[in-house]
Amino acid sequence: MKKFTFIAIAFLISFVSQLKADEGMWIPLLLEKYNYADMQAKGMKLSAEDIFSINQTSLKDAIVIFGRGCTAELISNEGLILTNHHCGFGQIQRHSSLDHDYLTNGFWAMSRNEELVNKGLSVTFLVRMEDVTQAALDGVNDDMSQKERQEKTKENIDKIVEIATKGTHYEANVKPFFNGNEYYLFVNEVYKDVRLVGAPPSSIGKFGGDTDNWMWPRHTGDFSLFRIYADKDNQPAEYSPDNVPYKPKKFFPISLKGVKKDDFTMVYGYPGTTQEYLTSYAVKNITEVSNPNKIAIRETILDVMNADMEADPQVRIQYASKSAGVANAWKKWIGENRGLNRLDAITKKEELEKEFYDWVGLKSSRRKKYSNILNNYREIYQHKAPYQIAIDYFFEAGWSMELVKFARSFDALLKITKNSPNTEIEKVVAQVRAASEGFYKDYNLATDKKIFDRVFLGMYYKNVPVEYQPDIFRLVDKKFKGDTKKYLDYVYSKSMLPHPNKLNAFLDSYKASSNKKIINDPAYQVYVSLIAMYTQKLNKPYQVLNNQIDSLDRHWMNVLREMDSEKVFYPDANFSLRITYGKVDDYLPRDGVFYKHYTTLDGIIEKDNPEIYDYDVPDRLLELYQKKDYGQYAENGEMHVCFTGTNHTTGGNSGSPVINGNGELIGINFDRNWEGTMSDIMYDPDMCRNITLDVRYCLFIIDKFAGARHLIDEMELLN
Ligand code: ARG
Ligand code: GLU
Repeated sequence: MKKFTFIAIAFLISFVSQLKADEGMWIPLLLEKYNYADMQAKGMKLSAEDIFSINQTSLKDAIVIFGRGCTAELISNEGLILTNHHCGFGQIQRHSSLDHDYLTNGFWAMSRNEELVNKGLSVTFLVRMEDVTQAALDGVNDDMSQKERQEKTKENIDKIVEIATKGTHYEANVKPFFNGNEYYLFVNEVYKDVRLVGAPPSSIGKFGGDTDNWMWPRHTGDFSLFRIYADKDNQPAEYSPDNVPYKPKKFFPISLKGVKKDDFTMVYGYPGTTQEYLTSYAVKNITEVSNPNKIAIRETILDVMNADMEADPQVRIQYASKSAGVANAWKKWIGENRGLNRLDAITKKEELEKEFYDWVGLKSSRRKKYSNILNNYREIYQHKAPYQIAIDYFFEAGWSMELVKFARSFDALLKITKNSPNTEIEKVVAQVRAASEGFYKDYNLATDKKIFDRVFLGMYYKNVPVEYQPDIFRLVDKKFKGDTKKYLDYVYSKSMLPHPNKLNAFLDSYKASSNKKIINDPAYQVYVSLIAMYTQKLNKPYQVLNNQIDSLDRHWMNVLREMDSEKVFYPDANFSLRITYGKVDDYLPRDGVFYKHYTTLDGIIEKDNPEIYDYDVPDRLLELYQKKDYGQYAENGEMHVCFTGTNHTTGGNSGSPVINGNGELIGINFDRNWEGTMSDIMYDPDMCRNITLDVRYCLFIIDKFAGARHLIDEMELLN
């Protein structure tokens, strides 16, 4: 009896703890096995097979990877997809100019033939996934070095991919899970003709800009609409005017019912990267070594970009997407560091590591396998710190200069010799010309020059130890006697790269012997110098350290799983399809402050400020607000805008469908709260919230604001 009570209590505790925490990004293939019962208890009414099935059509068929880093979902029978405004931002920006400023004014295709083609944009459907751990690790054993292991697994994976795609138009990849202890195959179908259908003005789609980014309470109408096109057999095809709207196997019906606090929610999409199983040493490396430098570098870049964008509407368009990208991670890292501090994450990790020492001491088999693991971690991270600094400066500061990124396009020209056939020369020249057109459209010399000055000649030159500096700084020392101002002017006046007229003249008369002009170009030389430093001094040792860490991580993952053998672990996010579920919930961000779980249009009006670009509410929206003309999209006379939930999400989940217990779309995931951004490393159920755009606000904007009723008519709305 006693024993029974004990077991019952233990069971109850584990069950309750499972019910409470909404942490976890789960593998859909294992849904039935691990999560479905819990999910059902919390309010999911669909069957596991409805959500993910190997045999039949399921919700997964209505979800795609959008471009390279976001998620989108099908919402009509005619290939219409919904994602975030910030996911379509690059496309909207590229179609924009002072004459057609879709960023500022929005864009709505009123008929199919007005939809805009996007070169290079694709969406990816998951056809199937499979556990291929055995095949991937075939012939791998514990005596191998990490490098041998990697090579063997790579060979196996190549074979798996080849077999999986043979005789099909599918693409496939195999991804490691649980730090390389398991492997899964993903077979994908990629559609390459994806057109822009609609986007609200930035004053809706990016309302609050980078000030409100990562923040709650939030009022951003962060959505855009695209359409997938296929050939006449519904198969993937490159863009052609003959392509027709794709007929999906599945699309989401949309709920007009809205959500209440505690309602079940599920987010189904592609979380990019999390690192939940790090040791204290790794967390210190992030919070104390890496994040502070990256934050400081980006702060300087943003300072320059923001001032120039504020001063000139043309620069605002040119740098809108670039600065958003810089700002986004910058602000996230700040939140992450604060959150980890507040959670006392390092101490928590250290406590776990103390437990590990007790645990490992209990059995000699454990001691044999693991006893040195934490010492090894400590040593490797000590070695890694100086490289970490150099690497962060290389990627964040070195590549912050647009001229340097652009210089890369010239590598192809340097391969031309006097024996190259004319056709080859013409091809490469045309490539560089095309690259230069894209580059100059969004290039402002003055902005780039200031970044070169403050970030490269300022921070890089001053803060990085000489041994990890690119050699070009020795030229600054010697030839320019350390006078960075002089060197700066020399680069920007003597290089042809910042000047379209000079570059075009060069390309017009290009022949193999012109290459010495590239080699001697001061901007190209900076690029070469950075690359040389990276390949000669950084890449190899950094890789060696990372390989050692990868090997330790693989073992540490096993330690954690063995130490807590009752617990079901979820694998870190790796941009594969995952399910996370939780509920609509509010939170207490600070002492004495309560944050409600939803926002309304009233809050947009409160924030309205015509003086500030990011808060300048469009007149049409003000008018709709005054008339309370919300149609079928209001709830008790109020227009809901965003809501928060406990779903464990990360970057890549942007655009993911947020669904209710009936599998209906209730919103689009687009952000997390600042207090919770440390959830990539440590999830805190009290503080971590995902931010969802209420789908009714999105429909209201499409219908009432934009007058694009024809799009609403394509969808299936449920009352
Ligand atoms: N923070 C969200 C995400 O990580 C939204 C980003 C939109 N970009 C921006 N700079 N406001 O992607
Ligand atoms: N905005 C993020 C994205 O682009 C999602 C927010 C997050 O990191 O959770 O995927």
